[in-house]
Amino acid sequence: MEKARLIYEGKAKKVFATGDETLLIVSYKDDATAFNGQKRGTIAGKGVINNRMSNALMRLLEKKGVPTHFVKELNDRETLVKKVAIVPLEVIVRNISAGSFSVRYGVEEGIVFSAPTVEFSYKNDALGDPLLNEDHALALGLADRKELEEIRTYALTIDRILQGFWLSCGVTLVDFKLEFGRLPDGSIILADEISPDTCRLWDSATGKKLDKDRFRRDLGGVEDAYREIMERLEQNPEAAE
Ligand code: TMP
Repeated sequence: MEKARLIYEGKAKKVFATGDETLLIVSYKDDATAFNGQKRGTIAGKGVINNRMSNALMRLLEKKGVPTHFVKELNDRETLVKKVAIVPLEVIVRNISAGSFSVRYGVEEGIVFSAPTVEFSYKNDALGDPLLNEDHALALGLADRKELEEIRTYALTIDRILQGFWLSCGVTLVDFKLEFGRLPDGSIILADEISPDTCRLWDSATGKKLDKDRFRRDLGGVEDAYREIMERLEQNPEAAE
């Protein structure tokens, strides 16, 4: 499958049309941004890691019955995916307090929740991806009630699968962001990526951050952390193709 035409360039990925109008090619960049693009940088090797990690995790999810856009890894940075219409929601699942949750509610990071939380943000860079509830999503026509329920159920199923997977890598899944899309028949599937850019991943023994917070917070050792989390994944036989 050949890249026909660049149709979109985002902060971390490029998306190309292909000869098949139902398929796209995603190409992962090393560019990193944070705080809605206000902080910019490069994380050498990130594109390769995010591509390969996202594909491994989507393959795992597919095996466990979660439909995803993943079709085929083409090379280290590029993957063939199903074309979807993205539902303009950022779906965030949290198992432990961190990040904007801690800031918004004035609590320390690291509080383990008795049950996971699911929250939605309106995917809209101009507005800074504001938090919204299901009624707001319905009012804005972003999705219907049945779709929101399905997205919530998928998000919790994905959390259960990924928590178990990362635990067996010695890694705690703190929180993560998902995006879903609609196929032409209207069915909802997981899209976008699952990577250290979109998850908080802490070493279970030491609490060391092995994700993009090292970049967001200028903690140093960013490239090493991405390499380390990828090695943990690759050492887990569950991630094998
Ligand atoms: P937050 O605590 O900043 O809301 O982030 C929650 C999770 O979502 C965290 O794992 C990082 C991820 N995330 C993204 O993937 N993209 C974003 O734009 C933001 C703000 C967070």
